[in-house]
Amino acid sequence: MAIGWRDDLLTGIREIDDQHKELFRRFGDLLTACREEKAAKEVLRLFMFLDEYVISHFNAEERLMLSCGYREYLEHKRQHQQFVRQLEELKRKYRDEGAGLSLVITTNQVMIEWLTRHIEKMDKDIVPFLRK
Ligand SMILES: [Fe+2]
Repeated sequence: MAIGWRDDLLTGIREIDDQHKELFRRFGDLLTACREEKAAKEVLRLFMFLDEYVISHFNAEERLMLSCGYREYLEHKRQHQQFVRQLEELKRKYRDEGAGLSLVITTNQVMIEWLTRHIEKMDKDIVPFLRK
């Protein structure tokens, strides 16, 4: 299973859970690629995938929130935008410093931990609204 993924992060919404698992899998692949000093082409390919996937995943969540009139929509969306900026920052770091230890640590501590905390608090909070 993907690095950092735990089954207690499941929300019970199949579409979202599958996307979350894919995000953990790909950030894990990024970690592995950097740790094993894989070719720059592969790291760039992962960044390109994540760029698109992160946006389409957040769009899917935001559509769900709007469909059920979720009250914390704006705050939740703000957090998504913050994550997109962090991904930009990670890419900048890669461009400037390459795939060193510091990129591995940032991916782990910033991206994967952010996702974990966000799913635990923010994403799970949407579920009761969808069930109504
Ligand atoms: Fe979210």
